[in-house]
Order: sequence, then structure tokens, then C-alpha cells
Amino acid sequence: MQVTGVLPATGPAELEGRALDDWLTERYALPGAEWLRLNLITALGGQITGPSGGSNDLAGGIDRPLLRVLRAAADVVLVGAASVRAEGYTMPRRAPLAVATTSGDLAGRRFPAGLQPGRLLVVCPESARGRVDSELGDRATVLPLPDDAGGSARAVVTALRDHGYGRIVCEGGGRLASRLLAEGLVDEFDHSIAPVLVSPGAPLTTGDVPLTNARLTGLLLDATDRLYARWALPRR
Ligand SMILES: NC(=O)c1ccc[n+]([C@@H]2O[C@H](COP(=O)([O-])OP(=O)(O)OC[C@H]3O[C@@H](n4cnc5c(N)ncnc54)[C@H](OP(=O)(O)O)[C@@H]3O)[C@@H](O)[C@H]2O)c1
Repeated sequence: MQVTGVLPATGPAELEGRALDDWLTERYALPGAEWLRLNLITALGGQITGPSGGSNDLAGGIDRPLLRVLRAAADVVLVGAASVRAEGYTMPRRAPLAVATTSGDLAGRRFPAGLQPGRLLVVCPESARGRVDSELGDRATVLPLPDDAGGSARAVVTALRDHGYGRIVCEGGGRLASRLLAEGLVDEFDHSIAPVLVSPGAPLTTGDVPLTNARLTGLLLDATDRLYARWALPRR
């Protein structure tokens, strides 16, 4: 696949497999041991889902290799429970998957049987622990939130950091991403843009996200006309 580094400018290169992964790994190196990345793909209008109701309609190009590389650089992969309910979720190869939920509703999700302890984390209020335990049994490790956390994204991030997960990559969906953005917790937004227009679709941001200025620190273009922007955001 041809990939062009626009910022920094490196010109086009033909990259596949391991060579592509290594190249992306170098470009997306993390600056520190505590970093929160948000990694999502959207249509041109900002939708995070397509006609199928999921994000697969938008995926292609080097989007999946990039997802893999960002996962490999993270201590934990964080997702909102609605994304898991909508799409199911592939387990990251190395980092644990952490699912944020206030309800504890993960019923029907086919997480693989025989998961090693600590591979699947559920970040939820104490009051939801019983439901998680009854649905997932010993496949899930609960990281409890105070019952008065009230949907605070900071509480989720604090629970992960308290357990030693400094480098977090959040893969959505929009509501969890919006809470992280609204609370000023995102260091970097890795925004993959698919060259499609579509509506309706779930929005990238919901609720109250204050006007936030981002700084472009990286930009790639691939042969499918997907753009991969790397935006630095101010921590609040
Ligand atoms: N384009 C992409 O890159 C991409 C990536 C991922 C997902 N998606 C799409 O996004 C859609 C789902 O997104 P969504 O915005 O509806 O939901 P979401 O962000 O995936 O999940 C929202 C849920 O996360 C839990 N949650 C959020 N904040 C929390 C907090 N502070 N503490 C504890 N739990 C918290 C709650 O779970 P409970 O409801 O259980 O309380 C909440 O309802 C799906 O259709 C999926 O296909 C797209």
C-alpha cells in the first residue's frame, strides 16, 4: 500500500506487513509513560458509523494496521460498553481490553472463553459488579469506580492509572470519547478520515464538548484517500 507522510513530509513509500508496522510504530512513538490517545475513524461529516450501524463501513487502507500499532504501544485499550454491545470486540494481542460501563450490561457479548486473568477489565461502579460477575464470571476483572463517580471519565482514567495502566488508547465510541474530551483528559486524537459521505450515523462528539483547539502534529495519506491526522490536545 502506498503511504505518504504529509507532516512530517517523507514522500510516498510502498509499505506492507512488518515494514508498514515498523514505519507506523516509529511515527506514532509516545512521548511519555502517561498518555491518553483517542483513536477513531470517521466519515467526512464526522459520523463514526455507516449504514451497517458499525464502523466497518468506514474501515480500509492502513486503518487496521494503525489500530494494531496503537494497541501495541498502549498499556490498555479502553472502549465504551455501547460499542461492545453494538459490535462485539476483538481482544488486543497484548494489552488488556478495558470496558467502561455504568450499567454493567455486557450480556450476550462473546468474549473468548479461557481468557487469562487480567486480559479483560471492566471499569464500573461497585453497584454494577454483581451484574458483570454474573454475565462474565471469572473472564472479567472488575476495576471498581466509586458509586458517586456519576459517569465521570476522570474516574475511569484514574482507576486505570491506579492499576498501572499509564498509556491508554481509547477506541470510542462517541459518548465515551466525548466525556474524555469534555473533561480535558485526551492528550492526542488520532483521527482517521474515510473518504465517504453518509448519514445518518452516530456522531463523534455528543453532549457538551467545549470548543477545544487542536494542533496538527502528524498527517498521513494512503492509496485509498484515507487521511490519518494526529492532533495534540490541551490537558485540562
Ligand atoms: N468509528 C469508530 O472508530 C468507532 C469506534 C468504536 C465504536 N464505534 C461505534 O460507536 C457506536 C457506540 O458509540 P456510543 O457513543 O453509542 O457509545 P460508547 O461510547 O461506545 O459507550 C457508551 C457507554 O460507555 C459507558 N460509559 C461511558 N462513560 C462512562 C464512564 N465515565 N464511566 C463508566 N462507563 C461509562 C456507558 O455504558 P453503560 O451504558 O453500560 O452504562 C455508556 O453508555 C457503535 O455503533 C460503534 O459501532 C465507532
